[in-house]
Amino acid sequence: MAKQPASIYVCQNCGGQSRKWLGQCTECGEWNSLVEEIFRASSQIRSAAATVGGRLRAPEAIPFTEIEGQDDARFSTGIEEFDRVLGGGIVAGSLVLIGGSPGIGKSTIMLQMAEKLVSSGSSVLYISGEESEQQIKMRGERLGISGGGLLVLPETDLISVLSEAERLRPQVIIVDSIQTVASDKIESAPGSVSQVREVAGQLMLFAKHSGTPVFITGHITKDGAIAGPKTLEHIVDTVLYFEGDRHHNHRIIRATKNRFGTVNEIGVFEMTGSGLEPVSNPSELFLQERPKEATGSAVAVCMEGTRPMLVEVQALVSGSKFGTARRMTQGFDQNRTSLLIAVIEKRLGLQLAGDDVFLNVAGGLEIDEPAADLGVIAAIISSFRNLQIPPETAVFGEVGLTGEIRGVLQAEARAREAQTLGFKKLIIPESNKKGLERLLGVRVVGVRSLEDVIDHLFDRNE
Ligand code: TYD
Ligand code: MG
Repeated sequence: MAKQPASIYVCQNCGGQSRKWLGQCTECGEWNSLVEEIFRASSQIRSAAATVGGRLRAPEAIPFTEIEGQDDARFSTGIEEFDRVLGGGIVAGSLVLIGGSPGIGKSTIMLQMAEKLVSSGSSVLYISGEESEQQIKMRGERLGISGGGLLVLPETDLISVLSEAERLRPQVIIVDSIQTVASDKIESAPGSVSQVREVAGQLMLFAKHSGTPVFITGHITKDGAIAGPKTLEHIVDTVLYFEGDRHHNHRIIRATKNRFGTVNEIGVFEMTGSGLEPVSNPSELFLQERPKEATGSAVAVCMEGTRPMLVEVQALVSGSKFGTARRMTQGFDQNRTSLLIAVIEKRLGLQLAGDDVFLNVAGGLEIDEPAADLGVIAAIISSFRNLQIPPETAVFGEVGLTGEIRGVLQAEARAREAQTLGFKKLIIPESNKKGLERLLGVRVVGVRSLEDVIDHLFDRNE
């Protein structure tokens, strides 16, 4: 006899489960996030899956040598920046999640990709639970979509979605958004953790059996009010997130998980009146508003995935009005900043304890590699001493706790990018220096310690 469905409380933030209702989730610490959901034995769900796909076989292990290899079955989205984040194009049978806050551009990029795909002869099924066909039509016209090949299905019922997908067998499926599609096998509301997981699971099955790539979009809100696509990250093959805020015109799509490519690869776009335009030279974009004659501004060379990128790090050091000095950062880890400030105090004897330090990575970019340390330190010292760093100087390097400057990966690619953008002097770890000066024809200063950095940072005559 089938088990009675029992209810279970699921955290809508992290997906943690509990038998009882609790005010605070024991897994992620979020308050008031547990919601009652009806739990079904997974065998019931699986049998439902079998009736939908009709393709589940009894599992049999296969010898490795007999598995047929797959040639690189990628195809282009028609948007180079987007291909890059995907790891070189769309992989057959993959399930890709595009997450981001509402209004950031998820539907826009999906429709633009659909447009490129249909104009190269593919068929695309666009399932929308959020917008009516008229709204999609209006947006599509704005984006210049013409011709056939694009099929629109405004539908929120999972079974209908799957059966239509099975009937049409399009080359690419887009589900916009996962929070609006629901299965009636699950009794919780659309958008709840169990619904979102179930829908993603079924779409995954469909993608794998039919070889059709499926893109799903998902909203995330800061307070986790809607079931976060965070819980989906383990299910899907690729996770792409929109970064940057809506107040900037540019949008960054970053791969945070990719079974078929490099993570941390980013694509940079600009939101225009006719959709998202790829930005061909992101470093230029991030540096374009840099004040050349200001203190507290340094240019650091970072790697984003496989691509070097120049970013401006800004610091403002000012006397604290309150008892405890504040350290506020945007785009760089706050703890790492505190650590670097401690290193500056100890190794260079600068007294920052009574000062507020504000740090910002210009352009809304998030950087998290240690190679940016030198940029952060340079900006802070420049603001503290009220001295300008010559505008044609760029830096990179990791800073250790004893104030030593450590070598970083891909030094040549970084240096080359800086040279291409017209930088004349690079301050980099000594261990990364070899041969670069002759190769690039720019001044390359190798530094071993923070003292060396200070010696060369403000010097205009080198
Ligand atoms: P949208 O793709 O609907 O966001 P999401 O699906 O992530 O919720 O993006 C909507 C925003 O983009 C909206 O603020 C309007 C703006 N936009 C443009 O600026 N230009 C355009 O061509 C389009 C289609 C949208
Ligand atoms: Mg949308």
